[in-house]
Amino acid sequence: MVKYKSIYFKESQVFKGFLDKLAQKSLLNDIRLIVSSAPLLSPLTPWGKPMSVKITSAGKYGWYSDNNGYRYTSKHPNGKDWPEIPNSIRAIWHDLCPKSPDPECCLVNFYTKDAKMGLHQDKDEKSFKHPVLSISLGDDALLRMGGVNKSDPIESIWLSSGDVLVMAGASRLAYHGVDRIRFGSSQLLKSGGRINLTLRVVD
Ligand code: SIN
Ligand code: MN
Repeated sequence: MVKYKSIYFKESQVFKGFLDKLAQKSLLNDIRLIVSSAPLLSPLTPWGKPMSVKITSAGKYGWYSDNNGYRYTSKHPNGKDWPEIPNSIRAIWHDLCPKSPDPECCLVNFYTKDAKMGLHQDKDEKSFKHPVLSISLGDDALLRMGGVNKSDPIESIWLSSGDVLVMAGASRLAYHGVDRIRFGSSQLLKSGGRINLTLRVVD
């Protein structure tokens, strides 16, 4: 029986409650394994400003940013390959993006109390024909989304633990960002905070 609700938000699709508590906890274990081999990093914007989220990645590529710009890299700055994307995470991708090949990057964003993410487009990939899939775990987050032009009208939606967002077609290059999290709104992470996983095909 399907227990989740699918809603359209701007041109994207949000699968509310796609992952139940058990699936969320099991993903958390997989994410802990990723972080143990590819420790969380504190990225800088290309302008040298520290970002408020901590990041790491799994997959053929990891997404990274420092003074040299936004980019995909084939190794963690510690010199090791990024760990493989766990099957549990790939399964969600194939379930909701059945026409796409395996994802090549799973970016892990970790938000503490005051972390947020400015409005941006996901456009470091070689092509934009495959969706961006984003999984929310832990505290609620207020996601903002506009259109493909920065001046397009923006709407907001609260994303909760277990929600999955798919940005495909007209929303693939939509501007989006995270205004704030509702710290402590979820019990999933013992010390609070939010994890977002973003899956993408890069090549
Ligand atoms: C991102 O765009 O990289 C993250 C979005 C989110 O945290 O929901
Ligand atoms: Mn993004």
